[in-house]
Amino acid sequence: MLANKRILLIIGGGIAAFKSLDLIRRLREQGACVTPVLTKAAEEFVTPLSASALAAQKVYRDLFDLTDEAEMGHIELSRAADLVVVAPATADLMAKMAQGHANDLASTLLMATDKRVLIAPAMNVRMWEHAATQRNLAILQGDGISVVGPDEGDMACGEFGPGRMSEVPEIVAAVGAALGGGPLQGKHVLVTSGPTHEPIDPVRYIANRSSGAQGTALAAALRDLGARVTFITGPASVPPPAGVGVVRVETAAEMAAAVDTAVASADAAVFAAAVADWRVENASGSKMKKDGSGNAPALEFAENPDILATVAQRTAGRPRLVVGFAAETDDVVANATAKRARKGCDWIVANDVSPETGIMGGSENRVVLISQDAAEEWPRLPKGEVARRLAQRIAEALAD
Ligand code: C5P
Repeated sequence: MLANKRILLIIGGGIAAFKSLDLIRRLREQGACVTPVLTKAAEEFVTPLSASALAAQKVYRDLFDLTDEAEMGHIELSRAADLVVVAPATADLMAKMAQGHANDLASTLLMATDKRVLIAPAMNVRMWEHAATQRNLAILQGDGISVVGPDEGDMACGEFGPGRMSEVPEIVAAVGAALGGGPLQGKHVLVTSGPTHEPIDPVRYIANRSSGAQGTALAAALRDLGARVTFITGPASVPPPAGVGVVRVETAAEMAAAVDTAVASADAAVFAAAVADWRVENASGSKMKKDGSGNAPALEFAENPDILATVAQRTAGRPRLVVGFAAETDDVVANATAKRARKGCDWIVANDVSPETGIMGGSENRVVLISQDAAEEWPRLPKGEVARRLAQRIAEALAD
């Protein structure tokens, strides 16, 4: 299943590190080539010699090892793999990853890699449930990092609850899914995301507060289920996930053109972008200047193409499933239900973006999934979790 796949396995310092030795064996049994990296703390639990013997590979341990750097620099090491796996991912490693620290080999590799990252958290139940860890988890999921586990059960410290690292077969399955092989394998899904910028003149534009976080998390979740994802993004404030096809656009017109090019081969299309409804029709080709008269320039607006409605109403080449988003500030369900019918899409994911909800630009979302015959209210969840649930529903719909 993993023939010739190269996996960089970062082993963190927790009691679950002993399971990582078995993980190396099971990954190799599937045909993968595993390069282990041990943190200093991991060496308290497993020896570099055991990891090296089981991997039949050199083990990397130190950022400032001149021999290692001469053989293969740490940047190269971070990119030579098909997938980076962190198991166990301790609370400390997760915090470092979420904050972007790069003060040892493991954290530096995680910062430098351009490959997908899968983490298998393992820690004491209180540490897992701590607000700081949950905050870090939401950040990591928002960044497109895949997570397997943790499981619930008895812990080495004598407590009970979530925090145990997933069992090795489950991690191997997650590695397989991350490298292709999930329920969306062979399916092409298009996702629009982020705001659009509509120029007023060469230096000014009209924008909105969309961060692109929900669309980015969704693209990562679809990718995790094995889909080929075309991710068409406006100028978002979060980076696109690794492992998806990225098309960067600025204006609604550019987004419409990019969608038109990619949509014909798509099995599903999800429109999470906050597209500007209007563009400035009399945008100036040179920077507008005050003329001293005290008169402000008058902007004229033209309506942008409705990308979602155009795709949903295609007679030929319409994806089987077309999903829109509706950001509303009042009467969320009624407005979104009417919007679904008006635009002709299959589902609308409606959310309340009133400023007091903190949803726009925030890390959580509370949505209602509206289909032809139901309005399903979901609890308030991290955007990564909303994305995973939605991706799962999309996989189920395409499986029918
Ligand atoms: O009409 P409204 O902007 O509320 O509709 C929101 C939905 O329509 C979102 O899915 C958004 O991505 C999509 N949309 C679009 N093109 C537009 C405006 C909205 O695709 N010009």
